[in-house]
Amino acid sequence: MIYYGADYYPEEWPRERWARDAELMQEAGFNLVRLGELAWSRLEPEPDRYDWAWLDDIVALLHEHGIATLLGTPTTVAPPWIVDLDPEVTLVWEDGTRSSYGYWSNYCVSSPVFRERSRRIVEAMAHHYADNPAVIGWQVDNEFGVMGRARCYCDRCREAFQRWLRARYGTLEALRTAWGATFWSHEYTDWAQIPAPRRTTGPHNPGLLLDWARFCSDRTLEFARMQCDILRTLAPRQLLTHNLLAAQFTHLDNYRLSELFDVIGWDNYVAAEHPEAAALSHDAFRSYKRRSFWVLEQQCGAKFWAPYAALPRGAVRLASYQGIAHGADAILFFRWRSGLIGAEQYHAGILPHDGRPGRTYEEVRNLGQELIRLRAALAGTLPRAEVALVLSYESLWALEQQPHHAALGDPWRYHDGVYRCLLEQHIPVDFVPPVADLTGYRLVIAPALFVLDARAAENLTRYVEAGGTLLATVRTGQKDAHNRVVDVPFPGLLAGLLGVTVREFTSCPAGDLTPVAIAPAWGGEEAPADTWCEWLEPVEAEPVARYAGGLYAGEAAATWRQAGRGGAMYLGAMGHALTARLLEQLLVRAGVRPPVEVEAAWPVEVAVREGAGRRIVFLLNHSGEARPARLGFRGRDLLQGADVAGTVELAPFGVLVVEAL
Ligand code: GLA
Ligand code: ZN
Repeated sequence: MIYYGADYYPEEWPRERWARDAELMQEAGFNLVRLGELAWSRLEPEPDRYDWAWLDDIVALLHEHGIATLLGTPTTVAPPWIVDLDPEVTLVWEDGTRSSYGYWSNYCVSSPVFRERSRRIVEAMAHHYADNPAVIGWQVDNEFGVMGRARCYCDRCREAFQRWLRARYGTLEALRTAWGATFWSHEYTDWAQIPAPRRTTGPHNPGLLLDWARFCSDRTLEFARMQCDILRTLAPRQLLTHNLLAAQFTHLDNYRLSELFDVIGWDNYVAAEHPEAAALSHDAFRSYKRRSFWVLEQQCGAKFWAPYAALPRGAVRLASYQGIAHGADAILFFRWRSGLIGAEQYHAGILPHDGRPGRTYEEVRNLGQELIRLRAALAGTLPRAEVALVLSYESLWALEQQPHHAALGDPWRYHDGVYRCLLEQHIPVDFVPPVADLTGYRLVIAPALFVLDARAAENLTRYVEAGGTLLATVRTGQKDAHNRVVDVPFPGLLAGLLGVTVREFTSCPAGDLTPVAIAPAWGGEEAPADTWCEWLEPVEAEPVARYAGGLYAGEAAATWRQAGRGGAMYLGAMGHALTARLLEQLLVRAGVRPPVEVEAAWPVEVAVREGAGRRIVFLLNHSGEARPARLGFRGRDLLQGADVAGTVELAPFGVLVVEAL
C-alpha cells in the first residue's frame, strides 16, 4: 500500500473552501491527509475547553472523498495561554538566553506545565478519535529535535541532567573519574555544581558534553514515550508515526526514537538541491526499523527559508520516486496550498496562493495516477542491501564536538564520503548500529567509528572472523565510552583485528592534496587524499596504499588484513577518488554486485525494490539534461507498458520505472 497525499491546514481556510479542496485531493489520487499538528489553539482555545467539531467535520468530509486522516498531536506549538501558566515554558539557548514566545518547536519538555498540558490534550484527543474509522493513525508531535529543541539549557533541564548523571554514575567519584575532572580542577563535590554546558570561555569537558548529548536525546525520547504510551492505551487500533528532519540532524538517537513508533518517517526538504543527501536519509530511515518508512513532508516548491526558488518541472515527481525507490510507502506533500497568513506565506504548496490548480497540481495529480498503476507491482517489495554502514550516534556527537578541521564540522562528512561512492556504483546500503547483528551483510563499513566500546569491537571482530569484510576509516577507535582518549595505539580496540597502528595523524589545510599510490594488487592507481591523513604502521597487515608525497611520504595510508575467514581494511586518509577506487576492489573481494546491471553515470541514480519474486528498478535523472542509461537486462517499463532493453534515454529530471524480467 502506498499512501499519497498532503499536509492540510483547514484551520487556515474558510469552511466554504473545504469541499473544493477535498474534490481536488480526490482527483489527485490522495488517500491520506495529515491534519492537526499545528492546531492546538483551535482544539483547546482555553485550558481544558476542547473544540473537536471543526476537525470532526473535515475528517468526515475527506473520508467521504476516500481519504483517510493521519492526526498530529499538536504539542509542537502551544497557544499563548501556556506562557501565562508557565512564563518559563520556552527553551533556553546555549548562551543562556530564553527563546521568546513565537515560531514553533520552542518549548522545554522539563516545564511541568508543558508536560501536563501535553498529556491532557493528547489524552483528550485520543479519547475522541480512537474509534473514528477515518483516522488511521497518529503523528506524535512534529520534528523532534529540530532547531535546537532537543537541547534546552534551562535550570530545570540542568537539574534533570544532574539527576540523570546520578542515576548513571551513582557516586561523584565515579563521575569525576569518567570525565577526567582533574583537568582544569573540575572536581565536582556536589551534584548541584554540575553545569548544563552553556556557553563559557572555551570548550567544555568532552565527557560532560557527550553525556549531555545522551541526556538530551533521552529527555526528548521520554517526552515522546509519554505521548506514545497514552495513544497505545487509548487508541490501540491506530498506528503511531513521527516525522523527523533529515537523518543528518544528530541531536537524537534515531534508532531508539524509532522504536517507539510503528513506522518512522522524515521531512524531505533536501532532494531538489542534494539528491545524494536525500538518498542517504531515505536509506537511514528505512534502516532504523528495517522496514518501509514514510515521507511525511515532501517539498513541492519553493522553501520559505531559502531564496525563493521555484522547482523545475518534474522535480516533485522525481523526489517522490526517489523516496519510493528507497523504500518509502507514503509520500505526503507539505503543504496543500501556499498560505495567505503566517510566517510561511512564501512556502509553496501544491496549490498556489490563489487556490487555482497550476503546474504543480498537475504534476502531483499525474503522479497520483501513476502510483495507482504501480501499486500492485510495488506490494511486498523493498530495497535489499548487502552493504551496511555503521552509524553510531555517540561517535557523531563526539566528532561534532572535536572536528579538528573546518570542513569536518559536520560529522556526517565521513559517512557521506563513503555513501556517495556506493551511490555512484548503484550499490544499496543499510545503516546499522555498532552492535547490530551483521550476519547477512557481505561488506560492513565503519566510517570514523570514533567512540568505540568493547561490545562494538567484539561484534565487528566476530563478523570478520566468520567471513565478513570490514572497512574502517580515519579516527576510528580513538575514544572510550566516556569520550576519553584510549591509552593504546589507535585504532584502539580494533587495532588487533585491523593489524595496524596509527603512528600519527594530521588534518590538511583546505585545498591541500596529498598523492596516494594504490598497490598494484588493489588497482595500482594514484588518487589524492584531502582533509585528513594518518600515518599507518602495518603490524600484521599488508599496505594497500602509500603516500607519494606530503608529510607522511612513503608511509602506508591504507592496509588490509586477512582475519579468520574474512578480512579487514583500514583507510587512514580521506578523498573521494581514493575511497571510490579502494571500495571498488573491496566490493569485488566481498562479492557485492549491484542488484541489476545498469551503466549510468551520476546524477543518474539507480535504485531497486525487490520482493515477491519481482525486481522493480528506478532510474532517476537528477539533472536538467537528458541522460542515457544502458540496461544490462530486459525489462518492462511499468508506466508506458513497453518492453525495454539496451540504451534508454531519461528526460531532464525524468524517471523510468522498469520491472526486470
Ligand atoms: C517543517 C515543519 C512544517 C513547516 C515546514 C516548512 O518541516 O514540520 O510545519 O514549517 O517545515 O517550513
Ligand atoms: Zn529546559
